[in-house]
Amino acid sequence: MNYRHAFHAGNHADVLKHVVLLALLDALLRKDTPCFVLDTHAGRGRYLLQDGDASRTGEAAAGILRLTGLADPPPALARYLAAAAAELPHYPGSPLLAARALRGHDRLAACELQAEEAAALRSLFAGDPRVAVHARDGYGAVRALLPPRVDGTRYARGLVLVDPPYEAQEAEYPLVVEAMREALQRWPQATCAIWYPIKRRRSLQPFLRGLEQLPVRTLLLAELLIRADDSPLRLNGSGMAVLNPPWKLEEALAPVLPVLQARLGEAGASTRLEWLKRDPG
Ligand SMILES: C[S@@+](CC[C@H](N)C(=O)[O-])C[C@H]1O[C@@H](n2cnc3c(N)ncnc32)[C@H](O)[C@@H]1O
Repeated sequence: MNYRHAFHAGNHADVLKHVVLLALLDALLRKDTPCFVLDTHAGRGRYLLQDGDASRTGEAAAGILRLTGLADPPPALARYLAAAAAELPHYPGSPLLAARALRGHDRLAACELQAEEAAALRSLFAGDPRVAVHARDGYGAVRALLPPRVDGTRYARGLVLVDPPYEAQEAEYPLVVEAMREALQRWPQATCAIWYPIKRRRSLQPFLRGLEQLPVRTLLLAELLIRADDSPLRLNGSGMAVLNPPWKLEEALAPVLPVLQARLGEAGASTRLEWLKRDPG
């Protein structure tokens, strides 16, 4: 495995993913009930923005750094920008954003397969009893850790975040779909959020159909394309597929996507916020 998230931290895909992640968590945390988050592909937790690998590729410069000085951002975007600003000079990854959002009685399990990344993550969360770092395969963790039960507490509410590197491209899709099938079988009320890259949209169809066929009543897609999806070689955009989204997620994201398109997009940019499955009741 060659993937290192440090080169991509804060890029347009991270912006979309992390705006959606925080909107999801805020919606799930509206009730007092304890919440459990499983981050299957967690990374190292934080990345130096200016002097590290992130600055070498310039991806953050075309991502989060283009959002500075934004006048009057919509609430879900303002929330994300404040969460990111609080970690400067680092850019926060998904487990750090989640840990900051969670309350004392919530729990986070973060899985990371690469030993070096997992060690960095472990030291980041040393001393935080709410967070368990697992140096292991995130798909297998779905079977091992769900339904969540920690110290005798059962967690009815919660989130499974799936953010693989897609190094094997289309070979990753069936792994994701099967892991989500397993997750929902074990924890039917879970919200599951899956990040996916968009190079050419056409090649995504079987994957999205696979997600649609899972036993859930609702499936919302939020996508940001920073240019037309006509090149198979470039990351033209990305999406978050949310199974069982919490109430009001769509309303929170609707005003954000056009702002991201305007600030991060080039010619041919577009967004999509669409229910692939919607509860008729
Ligand atoms: C896109 S990055 C994750 C970024 C992170 N979710 C965030 O938003 O900050 C994907 C990570 O998954 C790790 N990884 C790859 N295959 C894995 C697997 N089967 N199980 C767990 N982690 C894996 C990679 O080492 C990499 O750090």
